[in-house]
Amino acid sequence: MYIETMGCQMNKLDSQLIKGRLERLGYTFCEKAEKAGVIIFNTCSVRQHAEDKVISKIGQLRRRQQQQNNLILAVVGCMAQRLGNELLENYPQVDIVCSPGRIHQLAELIRQARQDRQPQLALNDKAELHDLEELDAARHDSDTDCPFMAYVRVMRGCNKFCSYCVVPHVRGGEISRPPEHILEESRRLVNNGVKEITLLGQTVNSYKYANGDKTIGLADVLEMLHEIPGLRRLRFVTSYPRDFDASILRAMAEMPKVCEYLHIPAQSGSDKILKAMNRRYTAAQYFDLIDRARQIVPGIAVAGDFIVGFPGEADEDFEASCNLLRDVRYKNCFIFKYSPRPGTRADDKLADSIPDEIKKQRNRILLDLQSKISLEENQKFIGRTVEILVEGPSKYPHLDNNKNENESPEKQPDKNMIPSPSSVADSLQLVGRSRGDHIVVLQGAPALIGQIIPVTISRASALTLFARMV
Ligand code: SAH
Ligand code: SF4
Ligand code: F3S
Repeated sequence: MYIETMGCQMNKLDSQLIKGRLERLGYTFCEKAEKAGVIIFNTCSVRQHAEDKVISKIGQLRRRQQQQNNLILAVVGCMAQRLGNELLENYPQVDIVCSPGRIHQLAELIRQARQDRQPQLALNDKAELHDLEELDAARHDSDTDCPFMAYVRVMRGCNKFCSYCVVPHVRGGEISRPPEHILEESRRLVNNGVKEITLLGQTVNSYKYANGDKTIGLADVLEMLHEIPGLRRLRFVTSYPRDFDASILRAMAEMPKVCEYLHIPAQSGSDKILKAMNRRYTAAQYFDLIDRARQIVPGIAVAGDFIVGFPGEADEDFEASCNLLRDVRYKNCFIFKYSPRPGTRADDKLADSIPDEIKKQRNRILLDLQSKISLEENQKFIGRTVEILVEGPSKYPHLDNNKNENESPEKQPDKNMIPSPSSVADSLQLVGRSRGDHIVVLQGAPALIGQIIPVTISRASALTLFARMV
């Protein structure tokens, strides 16, 4: 079997759970699609570009499907939910279309597809509650891509309905998982060697679970997990800039395991555009929240997202986004060109009025601004000692003396990157993360992988901190 994942951390986690479940049923996974008898694409619908990539991959498999009659092609995830039967009708090489709310049934769908040679469609009814507890609860202690870092879902879906966004349409409404399930799952992962847990939710700070007459919030969940012996770090993503409970910031300030890091997208700095986006806050309220976070949690690292070229974004609206980005001084920012998504309110009501050339230009301007800020912020670390969790060998060679190197952001390590004891060399280029989620590169022994160690920052670029052992 082969699985390829697009999209956000939710999808990454879903893929880990799908893989673990299928492996326990006796299937084995390989690294190359060419060798697999079952190919699974776990897809994303958030921008058209993400869907186009999958369509092209499906296209490439047409001929192979004709030659290899028993090949099974499964399209799962958000794009499967959005396009549904259309995928089966337009692409005969697709055997299975399965929404994110039905992936616990994937093994059965594969079996059926093989047996009947008929396409299988498993979608969620829009009105149906996505009771997926089954998938997460059946998670095995080793269902992670990395033995010492794991995602744990605290919520599914989203209720916010930002006017541009497809997520509530494909993932359904917000559901918070029972806290005891989150705790139990985290305990098992930690017993199995996990040191860092990242709690996942589309709007993770909206987590709410009614327990008798008490409502459990994200801060309570952090407090519960904080008690797990052996767990060293806790994070949570992504935060929504409204209804941000001060208890979460206090948890971060007071509980040593909770890392000083927030990913909290602004999307725009213009109140007019924020309103049209249905974000339900103003730029000033957003800025106040960041300010409050910095007062309560000194040194907190803040990451953000912006969309450029939203319908009606005039020069002064874009300028307001530039100003917000400058004022906040993010650690890093993800910047996207607006992509109209069918079925969303923005697409129904507003024409995609900004030409692609302008979107590209604005994207570039914001990226350049952010890159300058990231570099300045990173340079402040030079000479300081930070604690990093060493994730694995660096995937890209970073030349420590060359300031103009081409850098690529490091991704999460996978199990294959952990060297076997027999291959232990003396020293290699390693990559880790600080508590503020900075990527840190250093030269060190492979035995450091999976350890949390202090390092001293000696040099900085916009994307990376370079360190030496203390
Ligand atoms: N739940 C998270 C992230 C959701 S999707 C949140 O609310 O912050 C990740 C990012 O994709 C968003 O933050 C937004 O910046 C971007 N995005 C979502 N829909 C988009 C669209 N239609 N076009 C361009 N970017 C989009
Ligand atoms: Fe999409 Fe908005 Fe929900 Fe984030 S909060 S997932 S951008 S609808
Ligand atoms: Fe994409 Fe679905 Fe995540 S649309 S961003 S994979 S929730």
